Amino acid sequence: MKRILVVGAAGQIGSELTVKLRKIYGNSNVVASDIKAQVPYDLKHGGPFEVVDCLNKQKISDIIVKYNIDTVYNLVAILSAVGEAKPDMAWKVNLGSLLNLLDLSKELQFAIMTPSSIGAFGDSTPKDKTPQETIMRPDTIYGVSKVSGELLCDYYHKKYGIDTRGVRYPGIISNVTMPGGGTTDYAVEIFYKAIQERKFTCNLKPGTFLDMMYMPDAVDAAIELMEADPNKLRHRNAYNVSAMSFDPEMLANEIKKHIPDFKMKYKINNDLQKIADSWPNSMDDSFAREDWDWQHKFDISTMTEDMIKTLKKRLNEK
Ligand code: SER
Repeated sequence: MKRILVVGAAGQIGSELTVKLRKIYGNSNVVASDIKAQVPYDLKHGGPFEVVDCLNKQKISDIIVKYNIDTVYNLVAILSAVGEAKPDMAWKVNLGSLLNLLDLSKELQFAIMTPSSIGAFGDSTPKDKTPQETIMRPDTIYGVSKVSGELLCDYYHKKYGIDTRGVRYPGIISNVTMPGGGTTDYAVEIFYKAIQERKFTCNLKPGTFLDMMYMPDAVDAAIELMEADPNKLRHRNAYNVSAMSFDPEMLANEIKKHIPDFKMKYKINNDLQKIADSWPNSMDDSFAREDWDWQHKFDISTMTEDMIKTLKKRLNEK
């Protein structure tokens, strides 16, 4: 039986991944941890919960020993837009947390899952069907930290035999916890505004194609990769995974099928546009599909239908 620690459990991915992990492996076998003490009820009371700053290596080590942890999901991240405003902090947090875990894993021998991102690619990367192995010279500090993290994880795997694994996530669309300041956030905010105000001002241009994924698929990708047979993994850090690629117009048209009077206008944020333009339009994720049977379940229409249904209920809107 796995004994799991989720670091950054109150974030966009962590808040839903932790709940699913507890369903699969049992509540007491999944420890949630976050720097914030004020977290959703489920997280705090659905199983063990620890308040910890991921940069506090001693405390992370104490938790791993206390709960006899064998697998860590390291979800601590400062995203792309916030990272550009605070590059020092983005580097310190994104790499600091990972370096602490990698160093501890040499002695305590646990597996580590660390998400990478479409942000690990840059303007010189081929934009369509971006291959698994290609040019990776990102233009944001977020991307620089993600590529560095990928390389560090590969290094620790090869040199010390640590079981490091990762996926390059696209923009993730979810309805529980808001993303924390990324370039792809418009694809989440649009749903809240469409339901509550019937209108949305998009900060990226029409024609800005980006890879996206619905949260249930993102959660499954992380868990399935950690369950995969290590002998089948031709890559470790990190696998391209995708589910859909769309631009703001396509998403707005999909939403209009459910909310016909929805209207979208544009006010471009040039800084975000530059970041989005430097990322892939669509990734080739065939290695993930071949090596560990990655399959997405939601496309743009099933995701939109589920988002609207779930959010309407949660926001109490008709
Ligand atoms: N969603 C992230 C961002 O926009 C990309 O991984 O920063």
